[in-house]
Amino acid sequence: MEYLEIEGGRPLSGQVCIQGSKNAALPILSAAILHGGRSVLHHCPRIRDVEEMQKILRELGCHTGWEGEALWIDASSLDSFVISKKHAEKMRCSITLLGSLLGRLGQAVIPYPGGCVIGERPIDLHLQGLREMGVSFTQGEELVEARCGKLTGTRISLRFPSVGATENLILAAVLAQGDTWILGAAQEPEILELCSFLNALGAKISGAGTPSIRITGVKELHDGEYTIASDRIVAGTYLMAAAACGGEAALLRAPVSHMQGMFPVLHRMGVELSREPGALVVRGPKRCRSVTEIHTAPHPGFPTDMQSPLMAALCGADGVSRITETIFEARFKIVEELRSMGAQIQVEDHTAVITGARKLSGCCVKARELRGGAALCIAAASAQGVTRISGCQYIFRGYENIIRDLKKLGIVIKYHQPMTDGWDGPTRIRDRGYA
Ligand code: UD1
Repeated sequence: MEYLEIEGGRPLSGQVCIQGSKNAALPILSAAILHGGRSVLHHCPRIRDVEEMQKILRELGCHTGWEGEALWIDASSLDSFVISKKHAEKMRCSITLLGSLLGRLGQAVIPYPGGCVIGERPIDLHLQGLREMGVSFTQGEELVEARCGKLTGTRISLRFPSVGATENLILAAVLAQGDTWILGAAQEPEILELCSFLNALGAKISGAGTPSIRITGVKELHDGEYTIASDRIVAGTYLMAAAACGGEAALLRAPVSHMQGMFPVLHRMGVELSREPGALVVRGPKRCRSVTEIHTAPHPGFPTDMQSPLMAALCGADGVSRITETIFEARFKIVEELRSMGAQIQVEDHTAVITGARKLSGCCVKARELRGGAALCIAAASAQGVTRISGCQYIFRGYENIIRDLKKLGIVIKYHQPMTDGWDGPTRIRDRGYA
């Protein structure tokens, strides 16, 4: 069994460069197939989800490869519209291939997407919007079959600003006839990233980052390059580590403008942040302050992906904190694990009440999803003694090399690898001498 072993109790000290954004890279990889040519993504994170997405693109007939930290995609030989279950079920973002396959080939067969089990995660908003653009669907138990003639631009109002649905509709609209308006669109920075990439390839999209996005269909795209922004959730994870452990660290290439929703909360916790040339410097307090009431919310609110890292940091705060999860209904999976480390947390419906001032103690815990796994690393780094975290495959889905990064921040961490798990990530980590 693979696991991470963290010896806790030390303040942070060091600096780390923030990897490219997972949630930007994945829909951009879907977008790349809209163009029957080559695109190059700089600062693309080398994470498991990107590797899975590459496998899907190759299955569809595309070629992909790495040149240093850049990933290139050549979709000129795309010749299939069928995505197999074995890849799609591993991640949620496979669903965004629906919009791009419809845009490029006019049909798609796609299994219901997988990803972290943090709630029901339906795709009704995706399908409803695409229907309004002229797509017809046959839905089976496991597959969605989609077909359209020429996609036609229209005005689509989303009843909730779903990130994935907004992405799917943008992807379907890029080569559609006429103008598509998405009203009530998600405003997450990853939407802006997707649209900036598409515009770099010749798409005509305006309003990204606001609730009203306009996409004017174009006949075709052209070859292009794009540099993916750094990952705001990875950077936020390391800020929460500073809140939990104290000490000082510099985050190089931190995407400060994408992180505004987190800063007021960190400020209330007593975390000091300062901008220095090329870096965001964080100073954690000896003991962070509790926060009386936090709600997760769509951007620019406090991100749901930061909820578990926040909870881990608040276990040791100086009072009682309340976190209400408003986006996903099953996102308190780490509560049991934190309790086994000595945390005092009560869950009432969608609210977790955390009674702080607890010194956590190291023990064996299990990651059950990506951000919860990263949160357990924070809890372990702040705990007394040694914590073993299994289920680290979830963490590797989104963190390029959390072992390297946490070591650079002064945390004592080791990776114990399995005999084999069919993925070369741990080998790569070992070869680079990080583990
Ligand atoms: C994306 C992110 C994820 C993040 C989330 C919210 C990626 C790969 N994942 O997920 O990390 O936590 O945004 O910021 O970018 N919903 C519906 N019907 C739909 C679609 C969504 O009811 O058709 C609901 C979901 O069940 C959920 C809420 O809307 O309760 C938010 O989902 P959505 O914004 O779509 O998140 P994802 O795109 O899945």
